[in-house]
Amino acid sequence: MKKITIAEMAKYNGETVKLGAWIANKRSSGKIAFLQLRDGSGFVQGVVVKAEVGEELFATAKGLTQETSLYVTGEVKEDERSAFGYELAVTGIEVIHEAKDFPITPKEHGTEFLMDNRHLWLRSRRQHAIMKIRNEIIRATYEFFNENGFVKVDPPILTGSSPEGTSELFATKYFDEDAYLSQSGQLYMEAAAMALGKVFSFGPTFRAEKSKTRRHLIEFWMIEPEMAFMEHEESLEVQEQYVSHIVQSVLKNCKLELERLERDVSKLEKIKAPFPRVSYDDAIKWLNENGFDDIKWGEDFGAPHETALAESYDMPIFITNYPIGIKPFYMQPHPDRDDVVLCADMIAPEGYGEIIGGSERIHDYDLMKQRIQEHGLDEEAYAWYLDLSKFGAVPHSGFGLGLERTVAWISGVEHVRESIPFPRLLNRLYP
Ligand code: 4AD
Repeated sequence: MKKITIAEMAKYNGETVKLGAWIANKRSSGKIAFLQLRDGSGFVQGVVVKAEVGEELFATAKGLTQETSLYVTGEVKEDERSAFGYELAVTGIEVIHEAKDFPITPKEHGTEFLMDNRHLWLRSRRQHAIMKIRNEIIRATYEFFNENGFVKVDPPILTGSSPEGTSELFATKYFDEDAYLSQSGQLYMEAAAMALGKVFSFGPTFRAEKSKTRRHLIEFWMIEPEMAFMEHEESLEVQEQYVSHIVQSVLKNCKLELERLERDVSKLEKIKAPFPRVSYDDAIKWLNENGFDDIKWGEDFGAPHETALAESYDMPIFITNYPIGIKPFYMQPHPDRDDVVLCADMIAPEGYGEIIGGSERIHDYDLMKQRIQEHGLDEEAYAWYLDLSKFGAVPHSGFGLGLERTVAWISGVEHVRESIPFPRLLNRLYP
């Protein structure tokens, strides 16, 4: 008998097969038991009919507890009523391990309890769907960049410098030296772009941010493309193409998952390049005219500002050309103004906030040196980075997309803690 996974069942319609599975849930009457089976690849219903399998097997089925592991055999049957399209007419059960008192039952649990049990909560249908969507976004990311001539480059995690400012660094010892966990691979990706043209990275980044919001993680995963001979506006075009591609890929390949999460897909179907561009100046003006008198030119947006700005669009929007004073040292000044830089943040719709931060980078040696000094950065630590504008410097741009915020938006989940398998949050290092 063939051992298959739930995801493969469609290929075995009418055949008797064997599945390794766990009991996600069960209901039974005197004559029939419905086993909700899961095996990681999917969820399917197993039907055990007493009159067909006999007293003993039926009693075993009735006694199965949540999360018990088993091998189950049966005939694959097409079934229009099931979301998956198939069910298993069970003919045999072999219990592998009986689970007793699984803590996460189908009833409602509080967030803290679920977070304490994250290692078990991951087994739920909802979490399964979110992780599958996360995986699809990662797959579509590699697809997009590989198809567009980018080379994947892996920047280091242990670093001696800090591109996004020094206040949110995780410091550690590197033998006798001070080191930091990477908060962005950008500077290394710039070096790689000068070697390979168009590059992208995908890896964990760390921010010791004391923020306890639905958008902040201490450890999050970032996709960081960097492109030589690429100006600001050209980079925005890559960004909107990339984000459209991942949204359309999830729509195509994660139908069941989006349905399980009750995601309003009509909102996602609209996400296609180009995306609107709004200047920082206009954004401030609009906010001030629309009841936000708590922000003035020169200040950074808070979550309510971003949400309000994005609300009038059903697309992600770019907010461009922020004041130089609230952005990192490496951003290229605007050619006609010295008070703003060539940068943009992409704000997702539906209140999910900033998902991308990007900019054109300075490629003039003297200006870069001056900016490093103005920011009070250790010149010695940045000597290697300055080399990039010393030897064949070219206009170049790049950006960073935060994976978890993107997963949260596309999945329609409220909080980023559900869009990463094991979230590191303020006050949470376990499990
Ligand atoms: O805007 P950020 O800080 O940009 C950079 O790090 C650049 N060096 C990237 C680059 O140009 N290569 O962060 C980029 C994105 C944000 O838009 C957001 O999606 C995500 O990273 N992000 C976070 N996600 C979860 N938790 C946090 N604490 C985050 N901080 C940033």
